Amino acid sequence: MTIKHTELALNGGPAVTNDRVLIHLPTIAEEDIQAVTEAMRTTFVSGDGPACREFEQKLADYLGVKFALFLNSATTALDLAFMVKDFPADSEVIVPNFTYTSTALGPILNNLKIVLADVRPDNGNIDVSKLESYITDKTVAIIPIDYAGNPAEMDEINVIAKKHGLYVVQDTAQSIGSKYKGKYTGNHADVGTFSFHGTKNMTTGEGGAFVTNNEEIADRVKIMREKGTDKYSFLTDNVTRGYYQYVDKGNSYVQSNINGAMGITQLARLNAMNAQRRAIAEFYLSELKGIDGLDFIKITEGAEHNWHLFGLLVPPEKRYWILDALRKEGIMANVHYTPLHQNKYYAHLGTDEDFPGSMAFYNRLLRIPIYPSLNKEDQQKVVDAVKKVFAHL
Ligand SMILES: Cc1ncc(COP(=O)(O)O)c(C=O)c1O
Repeated sequence: MTIKHTELALNGGPAVTNDRVLIHLPTIAEEDIQAVTEAMRTTFVSGDGPACREFEQKLADYLGVKFALFLNSATTALDLAFMVKDFPADSEVIVPNFTYTSTALGPILNNLKIVLADVRPDNGNIDVSKLESYITDKTVAIIPIDYAGNPAEMDEINVIAKKHGLYVVQDTAQSIGSKYKGKYTGNHADVGTFSFHGTKNMTTGEGGAFVTNNEEIADRVKIMREKGTDKYSFLTDNVTRGYYQYVDKGNSYVQSNINGAMGITQLARLNAMNAQRRAIAEFYLSELKGIDGLDFIKITEGAEHNWHLFGLLVPPEKRYWILDALRKEGIMANVHYTPLHQNKYYAHLGTDEDFPGSMAFYNRLLRIPIYPSLNKEDQQKVVDAVKKVFAHL
């Protein structure tokens, strides 16, 4: 860092950069644009088209799962994960307190009761040591999430789930391309739910996938995502001479063929894009280690991280000051996931005292920029700004 940067921009000094470094940026390549254009030219723009089917097959092959169903979001995948089970109303589902609202909406939309569970203070994933304390005779399922793309401790979770006969839905919204014990996420639970939202490691604009190895579940979800109709087999076999039946309940969760085309080209580059994220994360880890008061998110044992997010763990009483100082230096930093119980809709489900791990993690967390096209110069600016701000702590 040069001497001219010693005065903080927050106190009137020169900023590390006047060109703001963004926190997320999707990687849209020429081949994505071409694929989308070609899909539009075919005029098959509605849902579950040939590009969607091809993307689903490629995604299943990539992950090593039997079934991958392309949807319009991870939120709808979570809804389907519970719609398909017909659990008795008021059954209980364990949801980590530190997550996005969609994790809880899956069970809630299906008239189930959520029970919020505490998370680990060092990485925000569900705290396995506390998990059994939330299980009652009404518990039917658990939804671990892979915060920041770092997989939950699925071996331990599955042992507990098996012991109590629970259904496991892994909210893999953030972890496409991450591995746990040598296998891609999506392989370690009854169901995995990925997101291809614009902020994710691969994107179809909006989008998601429901993945499972269970044929019975997959067959019913194919119907439920298409308004409860058997249009899936109608499109495949067309043996019913022009009509299809309404065979179940459902909703309209298929994704357009245009987005399917983008899924194919994005997936083809996913490992390369994740490798670029990994190189940035390694640069940050080596450049920022040893700074007083600064720590990193603990990576799960046996995990290979897709580096969806890069989080710093900072002194809680200084977190907002650091956030403001970094932003003034030209670096976008942000907090993440207000714990569910701190939100109006979930406020009746507990207080800060009930979730010490969640509060400890949330209060220390500050995200900094990471995305494949973040060039070396901007990576250096991020490092310079963090060092500069911490030098004034
Ligand atoms: C853990 C988690 N689950 C679900 C979602 C919802 O994803 P989508 O926007 O695809 O519905 C998100 C979104 O960021 C998420 O972080």
